[in-house]
Amino acid sequence: MSIDPALYRDHVATLAARADAALARGGFDHLLIPAGVEKYYFLDDNPYPFRANPHFLHWVPLTRHAHSWIAYTPGERPLLAYYQPDDYWHLPPDAPEGYWTGEFEIKVIRTPEEAAALLPKGRAAILGEDDAALPGFAPNNPQAVLDHLHYHRAWKTPYELALMRLSQRRAVPGHRAARQAFLDGRSEDAIHRAYLAATAHTDLDLPYGSIVGLNRHGATLHYQHRQTGLPDAHRSLLIDAGAEHAGYATDITRTWTRPGTRFADFVDAVEREELALCDAVRAGTDYRQLHLQAHLRLAGVLQDAGVVRMAPADMVTSGVTATFFPHGLGHLIGLQVHDVGGFQAAATGGSIERPDGHPYLRLTRTLEPGMVVTIEPGLYFIDTLLAKLRAGEHGRHVDWDAVEALRPYGGVRIEDDVVCTDGAPENLTRDAFAEGA
Ligand code: GLY
Ligand code: MN
Repeated sequence: MSIDPALYRDHVATLAARADAALARGGFDHLLIPAGVEKYYFLDDNPYPFRANPHFLHWVPLTRHAHSWIAYTPGERPLLAYYQPDDYWHLPPDAPEGYWTGEFEIKVIRTPEEAAALLPKGRAAILGEDDAALPGFAPNNPQAVLDHLHYHRAWKTPYELALMRLSQRRAVPGHRAARQAFLDGRSEDAIHRAYLAATAHTDLDLPYGSIVGLNRHGATLHYQHRQTGLPDAHRSLLIDAGAEHAGYATDITRTWTRPGTRFADFVDAVEREELALCDAVRAGTDYRQLHLQAHLRLAGVLQDAGVVRMAPADMVTSGVTATFFPHGLGHLIGLQVHDVGGFQAAATGGSIERPDGHPYLRLTRTLEPGMVVTIEPGLYFIDTLLAKLRAGEHGRHVDWDAVEALRPYGGVRIEDDVVCTDGAPENLTRDAFAEGA
């Protein structure tokens, strides 16, 4: 699908209006944004993988353009200093082309330093990392400007939503391939490679390191290894893996198992609650309440599965659900998989606290149309947390034989990316799965 230039024009107009307000608030005349620079391993001449400044990516879909800069002055056409070195060691960027070029005054530069001569002098907010500094242009990252831009980044423009739909479509074939590789009895590493091949990604352009856990590894929330050897059996696969399009992240988790087991029923029950929670992504909903509702729903799953013999509300207030669901319901998503501004109270800053006893929740704002969030409830059998529960006053309410029966499967997490609208939510992930069905 190609991007409509008019959609992009409106997006840039929105960013310009946000920048106008941010600069006025901070008392600045210009907004300068370096894409960033390549950084090197200690005492080495090999660079780390390059990751562009998200403020830069918000304006242009240029993910591999270190040393380029954007300069915006209210009322003027934005300038792009486009770095295209004469380099035969590395492949330089192509000449600028595409739907985005019409909105910029583009100046090609051959050395990083040439950007300095093009950037406007005066009171500038320079948003970037220290390493990107040029003489006379050191990033200052003014808090008032960042607060304004980060707060507003939660609202995606129609252009951004179009890119996020494309990012979802890229991830879905990977999840299908991963499921098949699991059913075929492949290793974690082979499942991961099947995912990469089906999504046409390398490890370096994924928005985050994929989590690919067989069996007990599903109980480690951010399991970071991939075994090349085969386990004794293929009981379950928890795969949390995303995709990227024009810098926009997708974040999807699926848990696969074979039908006909107690764990398969458990996965189905979590999925039913996950879908109900996705449907609750409505304008005016406080995400903290949604997170607490997730605890209550998952408590119902634990009760129905015979794992905990307590009323769901008591399970939540006593903290028992946190043993099985020890992370937040989800987060904002966009240019960063955990997008900025999740706690911000206002464009002028301030934070909205998490509910007591929920230290890992990443989003506390009230949902409004245009926000994109993940919904990712999960239930896990984590040995260290189970040991604490068993030793405490509520351990006697747990059916430890049921825990033992489910423990070999690790855990279950189901995660979709959902847009809040004026009406029913748009589930980007389910829509992408349905398209490819
Ligand atoms: N995809 C990992 C996470 O959201 O924490
Ligand atoms: Mn997530």
